[in-house]
This record gives sequence, structure tokens and C-alpha cells, in this order.
Amino acid sequence: MQRQRVNVTVTGAGGNIGYALMFRIASGQLLGPDVPVALRLLEIPSGLRAAEGSAFELQDSAFPLLREVLVTDDPVQAFDGANVAILVGSRPRGPGQQRADLLEGNARIFGPQGAAINAGAADDIRVVVVGNPANTNALVTASHAPDVPADRFTALTRLDHNRAVAQLAAHLSVPVTSVRGVAIWGNHSALQYPDVSHATIDGRPVRELVDEAWLVNEFIPRVANRGAEIIAVRGASSMGSAASATVDHVYDWVNGTGHDWTSAGVFSDGSYGVPAGLVSSYPVRSLGGRWAIEPGLAVDDFSRARINTSVAELQAERAAVSALGLLGPRESA
Ligand SMILES: NC(=O)c1ccc[n+]([C@@H]2O[C@H](COP(=O)([O-])OP(=O)(O)OC[C@H]3O[C@@H](n4cnc5c(N)ncnc54)[C@H](O)[C@@H]3O)[C@@H](O)[C@H]2O)c1
Repeated sequence: MQRQRVNVTVTGAGGNIGYALMFRIASGQLLGPDVPVALRLLEIPSGLRAAEGSAFELQDSAFPLLREVLVTDDPVQAFDGANVAILVGSRPRGPGQQRADLLEGNARIFGPQGAAINAGAADDIRVVVVGNPANTNALVTASHAPDVPADRFTALTRLDHNRAVAQLAAHLSVPVTSVRGVAIWGNHSALQYPDVSHATIDGRPVRELVDEAWLVNEFIPRVANRGAEIIAVRGASSMGSAASATVDHVYDWVNGTGHDWTSAGVFSDGSYGVPAGLVSSYPVRSLGGRWAIEPGLAVDDFSRARINTSVAELQAERAAVSALGLLGPRESA
């Protein structure tokens, strides 16, 4: 029996990740093979034609689960009744632009979207921010949606997690299914910390199977800078893998992670020394439709230093948007 229809809003739908995402959503991979979906595609006016063309293609695919596609440049319309919101559309860093300009330009996008989510989204809304700087964009969005529980706002670090799993599997010549217990901590940036302290390969600790030099000099920088590597080789940023990780994130959030944890940017509750109120990546499990930070993991000195460095970047980003007056009522309350 088919379940109730789910309204999924995708912003930046005329862009690259948006294009890769929408066919997977419409085919049932985001939520499950028995869940009908209605898509709301949000763009700015210059991206509307691309989104409209994609909507034609969705129609031509005759997906059995796809009930409706709406294309709009109005955030209020796009988020009205939304159950899942995937915030991809963002402002890229321009030539010579400082990080502060990037933060400001994006906060001016994500603030109004948070307000629109607050005003009209469904009670069970779940938000994942993909557009960079993803963690701080998620923080800004949530700050403008004070009536929505903070745990409904997340940032995508599943791509980093998947990259870490895949790099370990390739290095040790095992299938990715042999790898468990990887974690991404902190910011989705080059200062993220891909952590293998608790990771195992077919039950054996990764730390016994790889040498320290490989971990420090190759694995960590490769995972953290993989986005730049893709751009250098491909001539464009990751699209298919970003869309795939987004599907993984939402699917697990809604359907549960089972016996393994994964990684996601969620609001800190102060766990592991990350100041409460930052959106930081953690090892998380989804239980009963909610993300829970994995408790009780030992953090050694090496990991502590890496987590602290990444969290300091998150704090600087929050301070920058706060100083610009771009945080909403949740933060100033
Ligand atoms: N978190 C991650 O793991 C991850 C991975 C890859 C890329 N990204 C980020 O995802 C974002 C999108 O990447 P892309 O390759 O799809 O870029 P893109 O430039 O192809 O598409 C972005 C789209 O967003 C639209 N847009 C801009 N402002 C908007 C707004 N206010 N409302 C709605 N739409 C708006 C643009 O018109 C454009 O069509 C970038 O910020 C990128 O850095 C994140």
C-alpha cells in the first residue's frame, strides 16, 4: 500500500546538484519505493528556465511516485507545506572575494528561506543544507525559524563521510561494506576532521591496518580536500556524489541508520566539547526519525586538537554572521 505523499522542496534546482538530485527523489530513492512525492523547485529568476526544463524531463520520465512538480522563484510558495527541504542554492565565492563576503552573501539567502520555512512548512519539516558554507548556512536558516525545533536543521557532511569510507576501502582493497565506524567532525571545509579512531575493517581496528603517516599525510588531507581534487580533475565541482550523499542523508534520517552510525552536521548540545548552538558534524545515528549524537566515544589528543581547530572555524563563521546582524530571532532570544 502506498503511503502519504511527501512534499520535497529543492532550492537551486536549476543547478548541477539540483539536476542530479531530482531524478533520484522522483524515482523513490530519497524516501522509499512506496512513498509518493511532490517536488517544489525553487530558483532565482535567472535559474528558472533551467528548472522548468528539468521539470519537463521529470514529466517525460513518467515516474510512478511523482505526483506534482512546481517551479517557482517565491520561497514562501516553495516551502508551503514542505516536509523535506534540501537547500542547495547558494552564492559561490567570486574571484578575489573574502570568506566574510561569502558568508554574508549566503546568510542573505538562507535567512529569508528560514523565515519562509518557519511560516509555512509542515510540522514534521526536516531541512538539510548542502549549499556552502553548509554548517553556517544551516545555523542562519535555523536562527530565522524559531518555531521549528532546532534538531530539524542539518548540514550535509555525508559526502565527506562517504569519501572517507571509500578512501579506506580503496587503500585496503576491501569493499566499502567492510568499513564501519568512520566519523567526520566539525565543519564541512578543508579543516574538517575525518576520524578513523573507532573505525574497523571487517571488525579489525583500522589503526592496526594502516600506518600513522598514511593517515596524517594522505588520508586526512585527501578526504578534506577531495572537493578541490574533483574540481581540478573534472573541471567542475562534485555533483553526482553530492546528490548521492544528500539522498543517503535524508533516507537515513527518515528511515533510520540501523546498527551503524554515519556523519551529519547537527546542532551541538555541548557534546564532545563543541559549544552548544553550533552546527557541527558528529558521528550520529537516526532513531525514530531523529538524529542522535553517538555518545561516549573516546577522543585522544590527536583527535581533540583536530576537532578544536575545526570548531574554531565554526565559531569564527558564527561570529562573522552575528557581527553582520544576519542571525535571526532564535539566536538573539
Ligand atoms: N555540503 C557538501 O558536501 C557539498 C558538496 C558539493 C557542493 N556543495 C555546494 O552546493 C552548492 C551548489 O552546488 P552546484 O554545483 O549545484 O552549484 P550550481 O551553481 O550549479 O547551482 C546553484 C543554483 O542555485 C541557484 N540559486 C542561487 N541563489 C538561490 C536562491 N536564493 N534561491 C534558490 N536558488 C538559488 C542558482 O541559480 C543555481 O542554479 C554550492 O554551494 C556548493 O559549494 C556542497
